[in-house]
Amino acid sequence: MESSKKPHRVLFVCLGNICRSPAAEIIFRKMVDDAGRAAEFEIDSAGTIGHHEGAPPDSRMSDALKRNGYAISGKARRIAARDLETFDLIVTMDESNLADVRSLDSEGRFHSKIQPFVGFCRTHDDLRVPDPYYGGQRGFDHVIRLLGDGCEGILESLA
Ligand code: 4NP
Repeated sequence: MESSKKPHRVLFVCLGNICRSPAAEIIFRKMVDDAGRAAEFEIDSAGTIGHHEGAPPDSRMSDALKRNGYAISGKARRIAARDLETFDLIVTMDESNLADVRSLDSEGRFHSKIQPFVGFCRTHDDLRVPDPYYGGQRGFDHVIRLLGDGCEGILESLA
């Protein structure tokens, strides 16, 4: 489908950009591709810290994603203030990410485009996408289910 409409630019943000937000990017991209809507979206992810910059997704997250049928891609990067200009929707995984991203928006110009991921979930009532980094494999599997739920909500919200 050819379209002259501007794509929706969606950025997922967590702390390290090696577990939750790259998984959200991978899950959302596959959902968009499967829906035949790839041309409508630009999708990326970033972390609020630069500690893992250039690293691929965490191997435990990658293993869990592969078991669920996803191909792994992406390298960690730190969010920059210009991302607030570039992206139309900036989706944060927990309260701390939300506060950190908002702190880049000192004048509040981008307040409405910075939104918590769980606000898009329809079947989960979690208050945040929990950080699986220091936990076991089940935490990663829960994150994948939660991300699938919210990504469906995001896709439907962006007609
Ligand atoms: P993420 O997980 O924010 O989902 O990528 C983490 C990654 C790294 C660290 C913490 C959480 N860390 O402390 O390095």
